[in-house]
Amino acid sequence: MKSILVEAPRRMSIVDLPIPDPTPGEVRIRVRHAGICGSDLHIFHGNHPYVQFPRVIGHEFAGHIDAVGDGVDPALEGTRVAVNPVVNCGQCYPCRAGRPNVCLNLQVVGVHREGGFAEYCCVPAQCAVPVPDEVDDRAAATVEPFSIAANMLSRTEVMAEDTALVYGAGPIGMTVIQALSGVHGLDRLIVADRIDSRLDWARTSGASIVVNTTRQSLAGTLAEAGLSPSLIIDAACHPSIVEEALDLASPAARIGLMGFSSEASAIPQRKLNAKELTLYASRLNNRKFPEVIGWMSHKQIEPERFISHSFPATAVHEAFALLEGHPIACCKVLLDFN
Ligand code: NAI
Ligand code: MN
Repeated sequence: MKSILVEAPRRMSIVDLPIPDPTPGEVRIRVRHAGICGSDLHIFHGNHPYVQFPRVIGHEFAGHIDAVGDGVDPALEGTRVAVNPVVNCGQCYPCRAGRPNVCLNLQVVGVHREGGFAEYCCVPAQCAVPVPDEVDDRAAATVEPFSIAANMLSRTEVMAEDTALVYGAGPIGMTVIQALSGVHGLDRLIVADRIDSRLDWARTSGASIVVNTTRQSLAGTLAEAGLSPSLIIDAACHPSIVEEALDLASPAARIGLMGFSSEASAIPQRKLNAKELTLYASRLNNRKFPEVIGWMSHKQIEPERFISHSFPATAVHEAFALLEGHPIACCKVLLDFN
């Protein structure tokens, strides 16, 4: 099978590997489409903390089950599925506490084990989540990035009457914006970014006010509009943003942080306690695939607006070059394994 293998940092090739057989409890997926994530670029550059080389990468993908291992219902063969890349042990404290996405023995497909940038990929059966006919193959490959938003918004909880501020209209910010607007029906949705074309995308995906922070004051814009955010999501992820967010937040607001920076943020406790703010962290997703597939079935989100490009899988080098050379032109870039 054709596979995209990162052999070592900055060495990626399309290689022929044997088609894997599913082990007991696994299913084999015939991959149709896969999305490229910022973290795939980090792996490619050798800046990812957990990956070991060589690795078939790819954790955002969908296809159909074409073989099953022992103990798995053979009737599943042929089922169209989106793959949840979270593989957990089920035994440790976080798993027992219902938090498999932060399992002590977490294995992410495409990071800790072979991923979906290949014609075939084996995963535990419970990671293969069925997709109904009304969700097409391209959309199914975007369930994973939307699950990032679903997890963050379930952590922070969200109400239609929230005034939300989203920092960052990159791919992750866009999933949050689509969910806040299309699923939760917010009509006060402010989006801050530094790039006009991304803010245009944000506006067409439901933002009511967009702010380019390179030339507009975010605090000034909020004050002028008389808005005080009750929900703030940081999908831009610079450590300084959380500091500003504490000042802009309404009393009783919830603030969701998505970044993985190892730099410190200066957070005076007085600012948190004076307004009784709540900070939430969110990592990957906690069984959010069925919820996101439901959003897609009910046309509450628009995966096609999120997908900016698609390349044949054999053009993976061009796809990576586009994402690195012209990130502003891209939202989600797909690879087609048909
Ligand atoms: P991206 O780099 O494409 O988008 C970030 C956006 O933020 C850009 O449009 C940029 O112009 C904007 N930005 C940067 N600094 C800003 C500032 N000070 N104010 C306003 N806007 C600013 O990245 P992408 O792919 O959208 O991912 C965003 C973040 O989400 C990354 O840090 C990534 O590590 C994180 N992430 C977190 C996950 C989780 O499970 N918690 C999962 C996936 C990604
Ligand atoms: Mn991803």
